Amino acid sequence: MKLARGRSARRACSAGVSPALCVGKKPPARCRRHGATRRAGCATMSRKLALLAGSGEKVPARILNGITIRDQIYAELKQELAALSGDGIRPGLAAVLVGENPASQIYVRSKIAACEQLGIGSWMRTPPATVTTDEMLALVAELNSRDDVDGILVQLPLPPQVDTKRVLEAVDPAKDVDGFHPVNLGRLVSGRAGLVACTPAGCMEILRRSGIPIEGADAVVVGRSDIVGKPMALLLMHASATVTICHSKTRDLPGVVRRADIVIAAIGRAAMIEADWVWPGATVIDVGINRITDRAEAQKIFANFPAKLAQFHEKGSVLVGDVHPGVAEVAGAITPVPGGVGPLTIAMLMSNTVKAARLRRGRGQTAPGSLTGVAAAKP
Ligand code: GUN
Repeated sequence: MKLARGRSARRACSAGVSPALCVGKKPPARCRRHGATRRAGCATMSRKLALLAGSGEKVPARILNGITIRDQIYAELKQELAALSGDGIRPGLAAVLVGENPASQIYVRSKIAACEQLGIGSWMRTPPATVTTDEMLALVAELNSRDDVDGILVQLPLPPQVDTKRVLEAVDPAKDVDGFHPVNLGRLVSGRAGLVACTPAGCMEILRRSGIPIEGADAVVVGRSDIVGKPMALLLMHASATVTICHSKTRDLPGVVRRADIVIAAIGRAAMIEADWVWPGATVIDVGINRITDRAEAQKIFANFPAKLAQFHEKGSVLVGDVHPGVAEVAGAITPVPGGVGPLTIAMLMSNTVKAARLRRGRGQTAPGSLTGVAAAKP
């Protein structure tokens, strides 16, 4: 593994740590809790560096298993659903799946299966790919008016002839379990309770439930989409991280990512974040799910990962995130793909549906969605 990078890495860093361990681009960070510099080996900030210095061996990252965290959330939701059931309330989710996009079909089926697993009511509406904006607006209006529907999910992308923004803005904000409505986005911006987009909310659950320190951390969000990047940055900021949002025009992207204690990769480009972009010991949350079907690309990405290559040869395709698999040898903690963020996106959809059911009936907010609730931030 290459730890020393660039010209500056050849000099001893000002913390006096061996050049081999000093990335050299960032001045030594002071641990806010212990006063030690990161490169000098504060126990909290550089367990990985200490291990590396001691052994000279590769230290695999701690794997942040999304399935385990999802199961914790489901156990909490089941308790809450039992309490609601005692009061005669059964939350319900209506999913709208337009056309025959195979990826969307898989996602919506997984969401309906999760409802069935938890005992949440579910309905699936499947307009044809030729649907018009007016027909979609009529469908949303019908679902808005139904009292047994607590959550409405319009699976994206919609076909090009449909005005996606108009459709999403037509969803009753109280039933907007995707957190895409401008009212809910506005609540998130101003730090008020509301329904928060599921993928970023799931990333926060992973960080919090894994004990990753967020307050005061340097967090870099790669990707500025409405669905992930923007709400993710707001959630991290409300949790008192110092947040940088990167995008296609960011100068020296590897250099910016290298400064992060927490990296959120949500660009939608296979294996883009490479091992030498990541600070040793950083936490990496990989939101991407990319299916590789090209043999040359698979061989390039998985050259040092024979098990993944064997999977490609057996099945003809293999999944990879936006993060190169080699990052797991540098990061302190990382989410796998599959089995990292994906299960949390669905868990937070279930959590939002239960929360919407409660709030629509004038009941206050409790666990587990409250974990992603934002507190009014200090300046
Ligand atoms: N398409 C990709 N991700 C999502 C999501 O989180 N919600 C919806 N509705 N559509 C999506």
